[in-house]
Amino acid sequence: MTKPRGANPIVEALARPIFDRIQDPLFLDYLLNTIVNKVPFPAIRMSLYRAAGLDVHPTTNIMMRCFVLEARQIHIGPNCIIGPFTTLDGRATLRIGRNVNVAGEVLTIGGHHAVDSPTAEGILGPVVIEDNAWVAMRATILPGITVGEGAYVAAAALVNRDVPPYTLVGGVPARKIRDRSRDIEYTLEHFPPWI
Ligand SMILES: CC(C)(COP(=O)(O)OP(=O)(O)OC[C@H]1O[C@@H](n2cnc3c(N)ncnc32)[C@H](O)[C@@H]1OP(=O)(O)O)[C@@H](O)C(=O)NCCC(=O)NCCS
Repeated sequence: MTKPRGANPIVEALARPIFDRIQDPLFLDYLLNTIVNKVPFPAIRMSLYRAAGLDVHPTTNIMMRCFVLEARQIHIGPNCIIGPFTTLDGRATLRIGRNVNVAGEVLTIGGHHAVDSPTAEGILGPVVIEDNAWVAMRATILPGITVGEGAYVAAAALVNRDVPPYTLVGGVPARKIRDRSRDIEYTLEHFPPWI
């Protein structure tokens, strides 16, 4: 069996004990967002993410220049593509299923502050993107939202309600445009050498 393209077991084994010593999640995110996200070799970059505790399958590529928050609370299944400059917010946990495309410059947001509260307390909400979903460029997914299986979020949408399975939504705020076909045959795997 060939080695998954997002795996370099030696790098992962060497880096894991170093990352394991880091208790402060903010410092861990700092290292991931200033160094690891600029490593131009996908297998090394993905092995470093895994060594740091971000649960990502080796057939998935988080492309360069993504921004992560609370990496140890992010879970991404097999055959996903996370496009460049996307924000992956794990503060309330972020779960992405299998065969999901998240395009570039997407924002997942895991928390906000109560608008009318005198203390502006934080409110966290987990984000879930289910199997075979597709999130196009510059979409924003707000806290607590689930993008259903096979759903498609159009470019620049602001998603503030759960998206039902196999539904195309778009706009600000996002509204249903039409149903999406359930006939999905592709399997995503995308490891361009330098991005
Ligand atoms: C969703 C998308 C694929 C268009 O889908 P489509 O089924 O071909 O949609 P159509 O162009 O036929 O438009 C259907 C309706 O949706 C609207 N619509 C299309 N895209 C929209 C968007 N991004 N936001 C809001 N409304 C949109 C159209 O205005 C049209 O509305 P109308 O019927 O009132 O005129 C396209 O808008 C999109 O988001 N592409 C992704 C681009 C991208 O991010 N590429 C990189 C990904 S890896």
